[in-house]
Amino acid sequence: MAATGTEKQESKAFYVTTPIYYVNDAPHLGHAYTTVAGDVLTRWHRQRGEKVWFLTGTDEHGQKIMRTAEANDVTPQAWCDKLVEEAWKPLWEHLDITNDDFIRTTEKRHTDRVQEFVQDLYDKDQIYKGGYEGPYCVGCEEYKLPGDLIEAEDGTRLCPVHKRPVELLKEENYFFKLSEYGPKLLEFYAANPGFIQPESARNEVLNFVRQGLQDLSISRSTFDWGVPVPWDEKHVIYVWVDALLNYATAVGYGANQEKFEGTFPADVHLVGKDILRFHAVIWPAMLMAQGLPLPGKVVANGWLMVGGEKMSKSNLTGIKPQDLTSHFGVDAYRWYFLRAIAFGSDGSFSWEDFSARYTSELANDYGNLASRLAAMVGKYFGGALPEATAAGDAEQAVREGLAEAVAAADRKIGEELDFQAGILAIFDFVKQVNGYITEQEPWKVAKDASPEGQARLATILYTAAEALRGVAVLLNPVMPETSQKLWESLGAEESLGALSAQRVQDAGTWGLLAPGATVTKGAVLFPRLEEKPA
Ligand code: MSP
Repeated sequence: MAATGTEKQESKAFYVTTPIYYVNDAPHLGHAYTTVAGDVLTRWHRQRGEKVWFLTGTDEHGQKIMRTAEANDVTPQAWCDKLVEEAWKPLWEHLDITNDDFIRTTEKRHTDRVQEFVQDLYDKDQIYKGGYEGPYCVGCEEYKLPGDLIEAEDGTRLCPVHKRPVELLKEENYFFKLSEYGPKLLEFYAANPGFIQPESARNEVLNFVRQGLQDLSISRSTFDWGVPVPWDEKHVIYVWVDALLNYATAVGYGANQEKFEGTFPADVHLVGKDILRFHAVIWPAMLMAQGLPLPGKVVANGWLMVGGEKMSKSNLTGIKPQDLTSHFGVDAYRWYFLRAIAFGSDGSFSWEDFSARYTSELANDYGNLASRLAAMVGKYFGGALPEATAAGDAEQAVREGLAEAVAAADRKIGEELDFQAGILAIFDFVKQVNGYITEQEPWKVAKDASPEGQARLATILYTAAEALRGVAVLLNPVMPETSQKLWESLGAEESLGALSAQRVQDAGTWGLLAPGATVTKGAVLFPRLEEKPA
């Protein structure tokens, strides 16, 4: 029996992608920013119990990589192999990134399908031969329009992203009839207002498409580091057409129909705002040309800035992701950028800001709450979680606070990709619980040996433990290592099972921790920071 629409929908994975990164150099904070965001989103949906597919990878063709390899006296393939194995994959592992696959555009599973896709467009008369003459930025690997450029003081025309002179190309190219897709794209954006986020990004794309699209050169003929155009091997396929197709080839396009239908199209393409047009204009037009389904959303993040410029290979602060994780820990690193910068806006990194937030929000607000609770259960109840038998208004407020934090975080992180607001909702709740403990003064109540006094003490500590149980679940996608430590410290594993098996939907249900569970004072969640390294 053929699957109904609903059944099909249910079996499709929630598919999240990062851009595939150029491997001209090792990853920096900016690349890690998008990848961590993708991982948090992915883990959030997994924590909801959904089937999820998270893809990242590397973009290995094109002039930029070729020139870097030449400058280093190695072949482009050897350059890419080394960087992927020694820098990119290890960093994602180090940052606890749980991608389901890692695609490299030099893999045969990709290149074969790219050739088929382009051949198919050629056969459908969507591609024609022409000549291109105009500016090109090798840093962006992008054909620029004269209006895109900025002028240096001496009149040289510069790429606005790289602030470096553009090159003038004049070569024979094949063109994709992108200009024909403008009206269809505008119709699609109008029917799907959430397709491009945030709003500023959507407006930029709308304005761009409304001005009228030009046909897109989809091949280069003056160098050979790329996928050959199948009907004319003097050309290689333009690196962006090659790269965008990774989102299809990695999930079985043209090779594994079942996998493809169960995954494609992406629900969320995460991209930096610099590569928005490729994802929101060219990619959907390529899919339209083939009659393939279009992605759910393209969400553009802002830039991490250094000295007022986009952080890039050429202006790095010299701070590597590993320098920060060795000082602050991996979990705090994952948390910091999403917490400190509104997703979609630009932001700067500052060591001082990170230290201040680490100390006040992670160590003092969150870490201390967890360790105080474990210490009090140890001291007053021999480490056995007591039962709450004397709950009143104050406890009710905490219960409600948790339910609200769950709802807000689920909406903000899971749906709106407003990571900052979602994390804040969770930490506001942590503050509420701290306030509750301060007001209830369990250390004073402990001195009251009457049955009523002991019942109140038990209730206060159970309430705080339940609150932390919810927090551990909500923060698991952001800070998996510390959430696991907290889970173990609460003795939750025994009665509730693995932390990864807890559902966001149930996180706000009250009373899940089993009284009698063994609460232990485990390792400090956020140790005091060492002196800043020189
Ligand atoms: N290879 C293309 C993407 C192809 S996707 C089909 C590319 N690669 S890139 O290595 O230049 O990096 C792309 C992405 O890295 C950006 O879109 C962004 O997501 C992330 N970032 C790189 N530098 C960044 C900052 N300074 N700040 C935030 N994100 C940054 O473009």
